[in-house]
Formats: sequence, structure tokens, C-alpha cells
Amino acid sequence: MSSDEDLQQLRGVGSATADKLADAGYNTVKSVAVASPGELSENAGVGDNTAEKIIRAARQEADVGGFETGSDLLEQREKIGKLQTLVPEVDDMLGGGIETQSITETYGEFGSGKSQFTHQLAVNVQLPEEHGGLEQSAIFIDTEDTFRPERIAQMVKGLEGEVLEDVVRRDLEDYDKEDVEELDLDEDIEELSEEADEVLDDLVDEFLERVHVAKAFNSNHQILLAEKARDMADDLEDSDFPVGLVAVDSLTAHFRAEYVGRGNLANRQQKLNKHMHDILRVATLHNAAAVVTNQVQSNPDAMFGDPTKPVGGNILGHTSTFRIYIRKSKKDKRIIKLVDAPNLPDGESVLRIKEEGLKPE
Ligand code: GTP
Ligand code: MG
Repeated sequence: MSSDEDLQQLRGVGSATADKLADAGYNTVKSVAVASPGELSENAGVGDNTAEKIIRAARQEADVGGFETGSDLLEQREKIGKLQTLVPEVDDMLGGGIETQSITETYGEFGSGKSQFTHQLAVNVQLPEEHGGLEQSAIFIDTEDTFRPERIAQMVKGLEGEVLEDVVRRDLEDYDKEDVEELDLDEDIEELSEEADEVLDDLVDEFLERVHVAKAFNSNHQILLAEKARDMADDLEDSDFPVGLVAVDSLTAHFRAEYVGRGNLANRQQKLNKHMHDILRVATLHNAAAVVTNQVQSNPDAMFGDPTKPVGGNILGHTSTFRIYIRKSKKDKRIIKLVDAPNLPDGESVLRIKEEGLKPE
């Protein structure tokens, strides 16, 4: 494995250690450089001192973890991408879209549209930048078995005609420019010709290929999947569609069900904290957006405090940079509230959940 060889360049890493690291998912020098000694020794089964030495060597090699100048930070920030919801009012509120390199937490009660939101982003992330996407693929960690390929299909078909034409040209090589225009893809779904319908089905297949879904059966499995997401993002880095979105829907459901009672709270928060950092790490290393969903506390243990507060408390608050509260309104209407975000005023905007996906008022 070539990445093993990379790791072996580090002082203190022989082939056996390199294998251990690789088995534990540390495939690159950079992934070791950003690990903590405790985590590395636990995951890779190396001693604490060794872990510390390896990390120090990796940090020198990878040039991370030291002081950075303001201009370095600016350079890194200039790479931040914006993934649009394609609802202009919402995107404006978000300062252009969901930012890469940080975690955006969406929370709200059941049926508010959190899963719809993540499905839509898994479509939009694949779009060319001029249409609001990142031209990248999505990782979707599904903890409640709510991921629906059929819903992705509707959302793809529900894209604007002009966007559809461009992605058909990009993804389906058989259609040259004029052919695509003759398909009249901006017609309503019901009005489409049979041929256009078939083309869109082919297009949907392409989109589904670029959504990498894993179902998490319990919180431990969920944590493991976030670690695997890192491997997958490494593997796809040089592909045509590297990972641009990591979605976890729901972030908290398993944790909430498994760690019941006050006595388990500290343990739960610790696990969640580690999990969030794993997700954040993929987002920062790969310049990807991370979007996690969270329920609001609506059961009796919310006797303390506001029943519309997201589950998970402070730790989530500190690792997620953007928080979005989704509230039900009349019928398909939803109020999207930006709760706290660095450099952006809090705000409210509106969207509708339609057959074609998330759409403006
Ligand atoms: P929980 O996971 O239960 O906490 O809810 P959630 O916030 O994830 O809600 P979700 O995103 O599943 O939103 C459900 C709502 O989206 C439904 O009440 C519907 O109004 C709407 N919805 C879901 N699927 C469709 C669809 O195929 N067509 C249309 N028009 N609306 C849909
Ligand atoms: Mg849901």
C-alpha cells in the first residue's frame, strides 16, 4: 500500500506500526498529524509515548498543528466553498450557502424537514459551481433508515431545466448539445416526452452513484462509520467527484436512545464529542460541508429549560459552527432560522417542501 510507505517515512514508524495505523484508518501523514495521542494509541494499539512521537513527526512532515499566520488562515478560508440550498432567500441568509470546513447543525421537531434538507443537499453538492453546487459527491450516514433513493430521484428531476440540461451534458456523454435542447427538460415532469423521461432516469442513476449511504445500527456503529467516512474521502480525493458533503441524519437519535438517564450524560457527551470531531476532521481535511441533524427536546426530561432546544447541549453547540432551526408552518411551508453563526446576523427565511424538493415560497 503506497500510503503505508508514506507513513514509514516518519521517524519511529516501522512497517508493523505503519500497518497498525493503516488498519485503524490512519492512511496518510496528515490524518496522523491531526490525531490526538490518546485517540491514536487507543485506535491503533500503540503505546502512549509512541503515539506522541509519531504525531509530532507527522506534524513536522505535514506542516500542520503549529502557529499559522493570518495570511495562512486567510488562504485556507479562501478555499471555503458554499453549497447552496437553491432557495435564494435561505442562501442569502446563510451568506451564500452552507459553508465547507465546518459543521452545520439543523434541528427541529419531527416532520420539520431535516431529512428533506439533507437529501436536497446530497443532490445539490453534485451540481456545477455555477448552479450552486460543488461538483462533488456525498457521504450520507443514515441512522434512522430514512434515506430514500426515490426522493433523490424526485429532487434531481425537480431541478431547473437549465441546470438539468447542463448536468445531462456533463454526465451522459451520448447527448450532444442540440439533442439536449430538443428534450425540453424545462417542461413540467408530466409534460416530458418519453425520451426526456428516459434521459432523466439515466441522470438519476448517475446522481445516486455519487451518494454513498451507510446505515448506522447503533451509536458505536455510527462512530465507526464516521471514521470510515474519512477513508472514503481519502479514496475519492483524486476522483472526478471527491467528497463535498458529509451528512449525518440523525446525529443524536441513537445516542439519545442508548444513553438514558442523567448518570449516562457525561459518557454520552464524551462519545458525541469524539464523533463530532471525526466529522469535523473530514470536513476540514477535504474542504467538505458537514451537515448533521438533531431533534429538539420534546419529552419530559426537557423539564429543564426550553423544549425547543436541540438535544446534545453545549458540546454540539461548540463543535457545530452554524445552527439552523427548522420550524413547521402551514402545509408545506417551513421557517428556516439561522440561530448562531460567526460573522452572520441571525435571520429567518421561508421555503416549501414540494414534490420537486426544497423550493422558494
Ligand atoms: P424526523 O426525522 O421525524 O425528526 O423529521 P424530519 O425533520 O427529518 O422531517 P422530514 O425531513 O422527514 O420531513 C417530512 C416532511 O417532508 C413531511 O411531513 C412532508 O411534508 C415532506 N415530504 C417528505 N417527502 C415528501 C415527498 O416525497 N413529497 C412532498 N411533497 N413532501 C414530502
Ligand atoms: Mg428525519
